[in-house]
Amino acid sequence: MTSKAFSWSTTGDDIVQASADRVKGRTFLITGVSKNSLGAETAMTLARHGSPAQIILAGRFRYRIDPVIAKIKELNPDVKVFFVPLELTEPSSIRAAARQILSYPKFKNIDVLMNYAGIGAFIWFPCLIGWRREEWPDLQLGANHFPDFDNKDTKTKRQLIVTGLVAALDPGLEAHSGAYLSDCQIAVPAEHARGKDRAERLWKITEEIAAQEFPI
Ligand SMILES: NC(=O)c1ccc[n+]([C@@H]2O[C@H](COP(=O)([O-])OP(=O)(O)OC[C@H]3O[C@@H](n4cnc5c(N)ncnc54)[C@H](OP(=O)(O)O)[C@@H]3O)[C@@H](O)[C@H]2O)c1
Repeated sequence: MTSKAFSWSTTGDDIVQASADRVKGRTFLITGVSKNSLGAETAMTLARHGSPAQIILAGRFRYRIDPVIAKIKELNPDVKVFFVPLELTEPSSIRAAARQILSYPKFKNIDVLMNYAGIGAFIWFPCLIGWRREEWPDLQLGANHFPDFDNKDTKTKRQLIVTGLVAALDPGLEAHSGAYLSDCQIAVPAEHARGKDRAERLWKITEEIAAQEFPI
């Protein structure tokens, strides 16, 4: 089980500080790391409070990631930071990224993979109701369930990354592989996300769309 001390108000800084031995000397591969993203905040938090050996940042536009690389180097010059091109909508790009990573002896062991790349569910919404881009971040970062604002909606980016860090670093979870976490604790996923049958169906549909088998 995860530490009961961790909750919705815990920050990423708290988790990394409490898990220094799980960060030290390890190699992290993180997707979704453009400037101001949760992946970028995660990478910077690892470098700020821990001593990872290497952080590999995978993304599609290098110019959006260069500021994050620069910040990590500023925060902790001992951390080696690498960029790998990755466009997740292009299977050929995914394979090329995997080949590149596997071909570098120094990347032999990826200790932690954190998949943050994704499309924010709210990206279309502010446009529809006429918000300007600069008005988005608080909503994007704070609103997990708009317009039902509650405590979650006051979360900062440092808090939003925390459950991902718990999943990556908490040794108490080793016996709970595949568990669903919410606010740092093991939780019950929504009905539609439960069940071996649904998982197998999703896997099969994915194989069909990708026109490739992914044996487990
Ligand atoms: N922020 C929140 O409050 C919140 C809450 C719950 C869940 N989430 C989810 O957590 C994830 C990350 O959130 P975020 O706030 O960090 O979002 P974000 O700021 O929009 O960042 C998303 C990241 O994913 C990358 N990405 C998107 N499409 C990609 C593709 N096809 N190939 C490669 N990279 C791609 C983006 O790269 P580009 O810069 O190249 O587009 C960016 O680095 C999202 O899936 C979001 O829905 C966020």
